[in-house]
Amino acid sequence: MDVMISDAVKYIGVDDTAIDLFESQYVVPEGVSYNSYIILDEKTAVMDTVDKRGMEQWEKNLLAALDGRKVDYLVVQHLEPDHAGSIARLVELFPEVTLVGNAKTFSMLPQFFDIPLEGHMLTVKEGDTLSLGEHTLTFVMAPMVHWPEVMVSYESKEKILFSADGFGKFGALSKTEGDDWACEARRYYFNIVGKYGAPVQTLLKKASKLEIATICPLHGPVLKEDLGYYLGLYNTWSSYQPEDKGILIAYASIHGNTAEAANKLADILRDKGAEKVVVSDLAREDMAEVIEDAFRYDRMIVAAASYDGGVFPCMQDFLHHLQAKAYQKRKVGILENGSWAPTAARSMKGILEGLKEVTIVEPVVTIRSTLKDSDIPGLEQLADAML
Ligand code: FEO
Repeated sequence: MDVMISDAVKYIGVDDTAIDLFESQYVVPEGVSYNSYIILDEKTAVMDTVDKRGMEQWEKNLLAALDGRKVDYLVVQHLEPDHAGSIARLVELFPEVTLVGNAKTFSMLPQFFDIPLEGHMLTVKEGDTLSLGEHTLTFVMAPMVHWPEVMVSYESKEKILFSADGFGKFGALSKTEGDDWACEARRYYFNIVGKYGAPVQTLLKKASKLEIATICPLHGPVLKEDLGYYLGLYNTWSSYQPEDKGILIAYASIHGNTAEAANKLADILRDKGAEKVVVSDLAREDMAEVIEDAFRYDRMIVAAASYDGGVFPCMQDFLHHLQAKAYQKRKVGILENGSWAPTAARSMKGILEGLKEVTIVEPVVTIRSTLKDSDIPGLEQLADAML
């Protein structure tokens, strides 16, 4: 994929369209890109490598961009294997290269690679700079903007922020050109970085002091225009504020009866004027997409069948995911189904009550086996309380 940044800063990343599950857990029907960049000045600096799945193509891109030159620096912003997977190959190709990282980078790096570091390390800390000639990199620590060793780099001549996983997005560049950015960036953000809202806020504060013309993330497109849009969404997401007014109804139904109740509740909400109602089947839909919607909207209703003295497993899994991703600051309604001893509501409440600033809306509605006319007033009451 030919991505134009500038004469001196080149994209040398690769698309992975053959991957089935990113991180062995996220479906990526349009693949993913592992972005890597090179700055060509008096000195050359490679900004991260790629997953070993893309190493062969990346090496070709790298050598083509170098056009006979050697690599002086490899800036390691993030050690996760989707970016660090080709570090050993780069060192093999250019044994004189200096690796640039922070103290945490170099304490973790030997866990992944057995490469000679003595005499080949430049340890940087917050605010340190590296001159490449006309281009100068300033390093900004971003611990837990996914992993503890993460740092980002600001190049001041061209005003480029190399943002590591920040502003990343699912989707191979060759398959998603012109696509809406937010949809897959939001799914990426909440599922991968979502737990780390506070560190992202810290990074955004640091970034607000920089004049940024281009953002070069490690996944997804290079961002050049209307940067306030992307920065604004990141501020909303990382502060756990809802992005849109709306109600997600996530249901876990065994034989379709809880699904029927969930859909009836959605109709009632729409009839009563809800701005937006999204209904998701946790047993069949992409869990990561439903998690994305849970964070996107300001309200959620969980509807589930009772099961084994608890709640149907896909709902338990969903709520545990939300807990792990620090779901918070939302209004949540509960609808349960049970044929002999309803237990789903108690089980769901047990998880929801532990979440920060989550308000459980009354009444909690219980249906028995199937939705009946006598259940409608309860659904109406829950709908009123949600609106
Ligand atoms: Fe794209 Fe945290 O790795």
